[in-house]
Amino acid sequence: MRSKFNSFGLRITLWYVLLFLVSSVIISLCLYHQLKFQLYEEVDLFLADEMNEFKQFVSEHHQSLSLIESQMQKESLSMRKDYQMYYGVFDSQRNAVVESSALPQDPEVRDVKSSVFPALEVKEYKTRGETNNDVVRILTKKVYSQNEFIRYLQVGMNMSRIEKTLMNFRKNIMITIPIFLLLSLVGGFILARRNLLPVSQMIKTASRISGSNLEERLPVRGTGDELDKLAQTFNNMIHRIKEAYQKLAQFSSDAAHELRTPITSLMGDIEEVLSHPASPEKYRVVLMSSLEELARLKQLVNSLLFLSRESKPNDKERNTAVELNSLVRDIVELFEPVAKEADNNFRHDISQEPIYMQGEKCRVEQIVSNLIDNAIRYSSPGGAIRVQLRKNGPFAEIIVADEGIGIPEQDQSRIFDRFYRSDPSRSRNTGGFGLGLSIVKSIVDSYNGRISFHSIVDQGTTFIVGLPLHAALPLVVPSQPS
Ligand SMILES: Nc1ncnc2c1ncn2[C@@H]1O[C@H](COP(=O)(O)OP(=O)(O)O)[C@@H](O)[C@H]1O
Ligand SMILES: [Mg+2]
Repeated sequence: MRSKFNSFGLRITLWYVLLFLVSSVIISLCLYHQLKFQLYEEVDLFLADEMNEFKQFVSEHHQSLSLIESQMQKESLSMRKDYQMYYGVFDSQRNAVVESSALPQDPEVRDVKSSVFPALEVKEYKTRGETNNDVVRILTKKVYSQNEFIRYLQVGMNMSRIEKTLMNFRKNIMITIPIFLLLSLVGGFILARRNLLPVSQMIKTASRISGSNLEERLPVRGTGDELDKLAQTFNNMIHRIKEAYQKLAQFSSDAAHELRTPITSLMGDIEEVLSHPASPEKYRVVLMSSLEELARLKQLVNSLLFLSRESKPNDKERNTAVELNSLVRDIVELFEPVAKEADNNFRHDISQEPIYMQGEKCRVEQIVSNLIDNAIRYSSPGGAIRVQLRKNGPFAEIIVADEGIGIPEQDQSRIFDRFYRSDPSRSRNTGGFGLGLSIVKSIVDSYNGRISFHSIVDQGTTFIVGLPLHAALPLVVPSQPS
């Protein structure tokens, strides 16, 4: 029951009916007053006409009261049955000289009647007859003869026919409004239901959608209206969720595969050495290589953990200034022995001017060491590697360039994908999991930085990372006086 009253369709219908009621009442009132005004205007014109005639008659025969009286009776009773007329002649003291009998002799009537004299214009009042509540509209005029006041004259008309017409009009309205109200209620409800049908369909479809059922799509009727747009937006959203879901599933399965291979080989090595008695030296060798493999596994697990969290830097991190010059220099020094061993010509060019960014030191270290690690890993012996730190607009730029194997053009769009290795056999031999660049990219993105690269096969690769400079520190540090 409650849900019925919560229904959007019902609410629309009720608003619709209310609007209809209010507007029809307003229109009816306007029409009613317009009609009343017009009818009264007609009566007033008629009374003015009649008054002119009466005035003429009275000023011609003002000596003969009986003639006037008989004329008045004739006019008021016999001539107009439906529109009963009233005529009266009064002296300057406002006492009746002659009066037709059409007006009930009610003291209150007289009272009201006398009060209308000063105005000398059309007035209206209700008589309180014994049997009816007739309304009489009366026109009062002064009659002069040669600038001398003679009489007050009154011409009145019984308004009962007019009132009846107006009452019929009111009655008709009272009947038609409820009928139309009922029609609008039914019509509105049918209309609302019809228009909201797609919404119920959407609710049904949407409730069927789940992690395992992302194939469902809402029906798009092609009307191009808001509901259609909503369905389209909803469908696009499901599509995006499906993609993200698939990516996640792929990531989990890739991670499991990556873990399985080294674990299998570890187990194989250990089983092998345990199957025959062996010298302590042999055990030592196997344990050493197992430890190395485990270290690699630990690194993989750490990378997976980092990527699965993909946390945004918090406020404290945002406000910490990291000096990049010494950070880059330290990492370069750390890699120097490795580069030497790989026979690479390792150089660096770090800006003298201190460069600060907002962030967490260890995250930035991860960026730099991953890029240098790749440069060494994918370099040919003797190739040069150059690490550069400089300012470029609002960014601190870290550039790592090598003269290594390069990245084939068809792989360039995918190197930031998780577990992506352009040449798996070679990569696996050199020990990468294909997560390094995904981690770099996710850190750069979390700092609203930018990363780009250009690469030519067998000539080399250059990675350029831009990280926003620390906002609170001046972009340009004044140069030291020498
Ligand atoms: N400096 C580079 N030179 C050539 N290829 C590179 C370079 N850096 C990255 N790549 C390619 O991009 C792939 C992804 O890099 P990365 O995510 O660091 O994974 P990994 O180094 O573990 O293989 C690498 O497998 C390699 O094919
Ligand atoms: Mg790497």
